Amino acid sequence: MAADRPAILFVCLGNICRSPLAEGAFRARATAAGLDLRIDSAGTGDWHVGRPPDPRAQAIAKANGVDIGALRARQVHADDFTRFSHIFAADHTNLRDLRRLSPDPSRAELALVLDLVAGRQGEAVADPYYGDAADFARSWADVDAAAQALVARLQRLP
Ligand code: 4NP
Repeated sequence: MAADRPAILFVCLGNICRSPLAEGAFRARATAAGLDLRIDSAGTGDWHVGRPPDPRAQAIAKANGVDIGALRARQVHADDFTRFSHIFAADHTNLRDLRRLSPDPSRAELALVLDLVAGRQGEAVADPYYGDAADFARSWADVDAAAQALVARLQRLP
């Protein structure tokens, strides 16, 4: 962990499905745990900038008690690599793109979202965009498992 206060960014391709789900799940878990952190999400692509999360993502979050309807998609910026201590990518393509965009030196540590979950290191959160409600439910389960693990990790910090 960086010596200063952790700040967490979740990144996927469009910032309308997986990363807003991760942002919503983690914000809910962090708030419940009394953690006060900078939390955000962004996409490597710009196709959906300014749009709210996909209605199917909003629906699965809402079914789990989390309202992500006010989020708006944005693209990753160069200053994200200094504003955030940890950037978690949904899949390997997102991680590769982040490594390419990252200035040198960068404050942020880069990893996959599922690297946070015991036994799932190296796995991707599958892109649900061309899938159905079951795929969105799987994405939620993945990012919420990561959110729980990240809260537990941050609570162990001095
Ligand atoms: P996300 O899902 O990266 O989880 O937000 C996608 C959203 C849009 C597209 C692909 C994936 N797209 O091709 O427009």
